[in-house]
Parts: sequence; C-alpha cells; structure tokens
Amino acid sequence: MAAPVKVALVGCGTVALHNHLPGLALAGARLTALCDSDPAVLERARQQTGVRATYSDYHALLDADCDAVIIATPNHTHAPITLAAIAAGKHVFCEKPLAMNRDEAAHLLQAAEQAGVRHMTAFTYRFVPAMRYAAQLVAEGALGQPYHFRSCRLQDWGSRAVGWRQVAALAGTGELGDMLSHRIDYAHLLVGPIASLAAQLRRYLDRRDGQPADVEDWVALLADFESGASGVLESSKLATGHGEGLRSQDYVEVNGSEGSIIYQLTQPLELLLATREHGLRTLPVPEALRVWPGSPRDPDGDPRSFRYDQLVEFVQAIVEERPCRPSFADGLKVQIVMDTALQATRERRWLEVSYG
Ligand SMILES: NC(=O)c1ccc[n+]([C@@H]2O[C@H](COP(=O)([O-])OP(=O)(O)OC[C@H]3O[C@@H](n4cnc5c(N)ncnc54)[C@H](O)[C@@H]3O)[C@@H](O)[C@H]2O)c1
Repeated sequence: MAAPVKVALVGCGTVALHNHLPGLALAGARLTALCDSDPAVLERARQQTGVRATYSDYHALLDADCDAVIIATPNHTHAPITLAAIAAGKHVFCEKPLAMNRDEAAHLLQAAEQAGVRHMTAFTYRFVPAMRYAAQLVAEGALGQPYHFRSCRLQDWGSRAVGWRQVAALAGTGELGDMLSHRIDYAHLLVGPIASLAAQLRRYLDRRDGQPADVEDWVALLADFESGASGVLESSKLATGHGEGLRSQDYVEVNGSEGSIIYQLTQPLELLLATREHGLRTLPVPEALRVWPGSPRDPDGDPRSFRYDQLVEFVQAIVEERPCRPSFADGLKVQIVMDTALQATRERRWLEVSYG
C-alpha cells in the first residue's frame, strides 16, 4: 500500500477544526505539522491532534515533512501563504475566497500550474449530495433549457462581532466573498459562465459588538448567463430569525423549459422536482451520488459530513496525479465575478464579465 499523503495545516481556527481535521482522517492522509499565529489556537490544535511539529510562522512550517498544505487562514493571507507553499513544491488546498482580487487569484493559478502542483479551492457546498444531483440533472437535460437560476442564502448573524470577517483589509469583501462566493460557484456549476451582471452591496451595521465594520452584510446580483438564462443571487447576514450555518436557508432553484428543481442545504439528501405533469415532488438523491466517488464515508451517516469529502478529492487528486475539482481555476472564475460585482456596484451599471 502506498504511504499516506502528508499534509500540513496553516490556520487552526474554526473551519480547520470543523471541516479539515475530520476530512483528513476520512481521506486517510497524515497530518504532520500545524501552524497558527495565535499561540492559544495552536496549542488547542496540538492537544486535539497530538501533532508535535507546531509553528507560529508558515515559512518555518514549509520546511516540515509534508507533501501538501491546507490554508485555512483569513482571506488576506491566502495569496502569500499559497505562493510560499507552491514555491516549496507543495500541493495546495486553499480556502475560499481564493484571494483578495482577480489579479491575485490569477497569479496563484498560474504559479500552481507552472510548478505542476495540485491546487484546489474549498467550494465545500459543491460536495452536498443534492447539489451534485442537481448538477447531474441539469447536465442531462432533465429540465430542458434552463431559463432561470435563483439562489438565496439567508442567515441571522445579528450584530455580533465576526472578527476579521468585518474588516475589509483582512476579508476583502463581506457577504460577497464570505457567502455569495459559494453561490456564484453553484451558478457556474449549474448554468455556466455569466455574460453580464448588475449588483448591489449594502452595509447596515457600521459596528458589530462595538467594533468597526467596513464590509457589506447584504449583497444581490442580477445576472445574464452566456447560455441565455437569467440569474438572481442574494445573500444576507441580517435575515432575522433565520439562524446560522447548515440549518439556515441556502436555497437554489433552476427553472427550465421542462421542469424546475429546488435545492436546500437543510435537506442535503433530496431535491424537489416540479413538472407540469406531476407538480412538486421530492426526489431522493440516488445512492451513487450520496458520497464523493472513492470516499469511504457512510452514505447513511451524518448527512452534514459531506464537508469531509472535499479533502478526499484533494488527496485522491494528489495520489492519482490529476487536477482537483474544484481547482484554483474555479476560484479565479468566482473572483472575477466578485470583482465585476464590486465594480458594477460602484458604477451603478450593468457590466460584462470577462473571464479571459
Ligand atoms: N469553505 C467553507 O465552507 C468555509 C467555512 C468557513 C470559513 N471558510 C474560510 O476559511 C478561512 C478561515 O476561516 P475561519 O472561520 O476558520 O477563521 P478563524 O478566524 O476561525 O481561523 C483562522 C485562523 O488563522 C490564524 N491565522 C491568521 N493569520 C495567520 C497567519 N499569517 N499564519 C498562520 N495562521 C494565521 C488565526 O489565528 C486563526 O486561528 C477563511 O478564508 C474563510 O473564508 C470557508
């Protein structure tokens, strides 16, 4: 049997503990080194994992024994850490949004391709079984010609402080990068490239728990897809009463000439299909799509464990020496849409999206 892939973790905060440690265990990879700039966070991760090689500086971590690096730090650090990891010859799994802007994201993709390392962007919700089933149904033509794509991400974060996420210099954007980036990726996955868009960003709270906030807490996009379909995408942190996380609303609907499908994150193992003939009915996700190909995850286990499959994909791509899905190219495409949305908001007009 081949030796396990050795992975180092940079950033041992929330997403690392909730998604990436269980993901690495599922993927059969070996966690060999940890890095966090916060000593208390690093010590907690050391105790939790038993990994002895710990670093406060990612440059030092890159000398550790590892084939690949997971980057789970605030957005402004993604580019420098990724570039250093690529320069050290490591495969890179980087959190979303991939970078702070289009140029940075393009640079990361180019550097990774030139170095011949595997690269993956953490568009975690592509791994929801119901989203994979939705993509399959649309691709098979089960809905006919897609007319409309609609996504709505509603959470209630109230006025609590959200750390680096409320600071533009550290996060780049607010709700746009934090939540809508995943939904732009859904749109690409289901309906393809966006030809043009209009956008609006709004900040309702200038302070959260007394600390300044300078990013938006609501965003909406109107989109025309290259396919001719139209899109409406909305995301809010201030949808009072909606709760947070996996239990709050993440709704996607595609209306085609022959039918409509509805995806809801709260129901990761089913879709709703509407046709003229049968009205609205529930479609369970087929057994074969309930876990990622090759994942040892129990299809009847906790449905929220879909999140761990993304590291199965990353590790398998390293072993099989093939591109990851989704890659930095997908991260760049989303970044391009995000940058266009920021410009469209500033200029208060429709803009073409240029992926080239
Ligand atoms: N894919 C998803 O579903 C998903 C979910 C949550 C967060 N995220 C993304 O993951 C990233 C981290 O988010 P989080 O919620 O875990 O944040 P967090 O604040 O909980 O954790 C980030 C950690 O990075 C550490 N850190 C900061 N700068 C560092 C540096 N230069 N070197 C080493 N460590 C450093 C911090 O001390 C902190 O412990 C963000 O990019 C976020 O957008 C993605």
